[in-house]
Amino acid sequence: MLSYQHEYHAGNFADVHKHLCLRVLFESLLKKEKPFCYVDCHAGAGIHDLASAQAQTTAEFAGGIGKLWRRFEATDLHSLSAYLAGVASLNNSGVLRHYPGSPELARQWLRPQDRALLLELHPQAQQALKKNFRSDTRISVHNRDCYEGLVALVPPPIRRGLVLLDPSYELKNEYRDLVALVVAAHKRWGNAIYAIWYPLLPAARHNELVKALANSGLHNILLSELLVKEIDESGGMYGSGMAIVNPPWQTDSALQTLLPVVANLLAPGRGAAQLRWLVQDGVANPTAKNPG
Ligand SMILES: C[S@@+](CC[C@H](N)C(=O)[O-])C[C@H]1O[C@@H](n2cnc3c(N)ncnc32)[C@H](O)[C@@H]1O
Repeated sequence: MLSYQHEYHAGNFADVHKHLCLRVLFESLLKKEKPFCYVDCHAGAGIHDLASAQAQTTAEFAGGIGKLWRRFEATDLHSLSAYLAGVASLNNSGVLRHYPGSPELARQWLRPQDRALLLELHPQAQQALKKNFRSDTRISVHNRDCYEGLVALVPPPIRRGLVLLDPSYELKNEYRDLVALVVAAHKRWGNAIYAIWYPLLPAARHNELVKALANSGLHNILLSELLVKEIDESGGMYGSGMAIVNPPWQTDSALQTLLPVVANLLAPGRGAAQLRWLVQDGVANPTAKNPG
């Protein structure tokens, strides 16, 4: 049984990076009236209480959403203000108490014609997910392992869409298994966008995932990384990564505009945002290092 609980980490800098990438991808899908389907392979509980014992133990949110929360009115970056509005809508009292996970942000951004499929394995998170989303007829919750569930559920009847893969990497072979899962899903649903989150840790296991993606045969893969700390050899996460397969047009320029500003807000003078094509039009490691 996996023991990971996202409550310890909700709203940290990695969630901020992940959810901003998600917002940018949603914005591309929202440009057309045609419906789309969002698939969340590792949904978590959906809404997180930052006053819980778990969140208070680590207080990771203080270095993430805690730093951006007050910038709601100050930003002229559309994606950032849309994301912060999503957080604000759960905190009407003006005190930062609840943080929206990826399913809740998606719920806020879906239109009547759009659909979402949420997959979650952990019984506790699954129970919360059902409670939080059962009244929304656009959303279906699946208590299943995404390693069999994703391939079984795609392609959905609505053929435009986005898949988020956001595991806890408790199992070290996940860095490779995830790429095999994306390749299998892509064979069935080739035009979907796949967003794969990964941690940047001193052990650098994410290199396995990046290498496997580069050799996967997938044709367009953009990597976005947000760095907020010096590499700490004691093992802490120093950055957050997102690999985007089939990024919509102008995803690179949107991230290029947004993330350096966010890096500087999270870690003034130290933070950095990096963006590069891992594979572009079928060519691995193209020379254009700074898209956008
Ligand atoms: C990092 S959390 C997800 C956070 C969520 N995506 C968000 O942004 O708010 C990872 C979640 O994946 C779940 N999980 C882990 N392995 C899974 C699997 N094979 N299939 C489905 N869910 C899984 C865990 O129980 C945990 O709730």
